[in-house]
Amino acid sequence: MEFSQAVDVPAREIVDLFTATFTASEGAAEGSAIGALADDLLTTTPDGDLFTICAKDGAALVGCIIFSRLTYAKDNRTVFVLGPVAVGTDRQGEGIGQRLLNRGLAELRAAGVDVALTYGDPGYYGKVGFRQISEETAAAPFKLQYPHGWLAQPLRGAEIPPLAGPVRCVAAFNKPEFW
Ligand SMILES: CC(C)(COP(=O)(O)OP(=O)(O)OC[C@H]1O[C@@H](n2cnc3c(N)ncnc32)[C@H](O)[C@@H]1OP(=O)(O)O)[C@@H](O)C(=O)NCCC(=O)NCCS
Repeated sequence: MEFSQAVDVPAREIVDLFTATFTASEGAAEGSAIGALADDLLTTTPDGDLFTICAKDGAALVGCIIFSRLTYAKDNRTVFVLGPVAVGTDRQGEGIGQRLLNRGLAELRAAGVDVALTYGDPGYYGKVGFRQISEETAAAPFKLQYPHGWLAQPLRGAEIPPLAGPVRCVAAFNKPEFW
């Protein structure tokens, strides 16, 4: 298994992986929505605002994780939000997701990112160091439908002093339905 930043993987392959994986787990509508989100993230986000890490087994793309920048206007810390992440349906449960998450977080840390956020299942993301936070610690770009899924971890230091907003996400995430 090879984990690398997505430079040599065509965007179309990544979009297809997200579409197929989320179609299998959540249905066709969600599959198309997440595929379109991945497409938007990969094609409209400035290079410095995106980290994409792929897991390949030989020539086959088996997993992918995307992180994009969140900007807190009155804070000089660097913040990235994780999502989406997918592991091909026929390769789930082998630990590839966990390895993608850990690899992604290590690359963010190496690049000097201060804080990683995500919005998802606290049980799953808790295994790689994410903890529930309030919107006083980090404002979200839109009103959260599931505030208990707002999670963060410091990549430098042990705590996250409150991030000074207002906050802005990249264009692909700038839609209330993703929050
Ligand atoms: C979620 C996903 C990325 C996990 O990848 P994976 O390679 O199957 O996960 P791993 O094998 O690394 O599993 C690690 C652990 O998480 C657990 N886990 C997997 N999916 C989970 C989920 N949706 N919720 C809670 N726990 C989950 C596993 O049981 C495993 O636990 P264990 O270590 O105690 O056995 C993958 O199942 C997937 O692509 N699902 C569909 C898309 C999705 O839901 N993405 C996440 C939201 S963006």
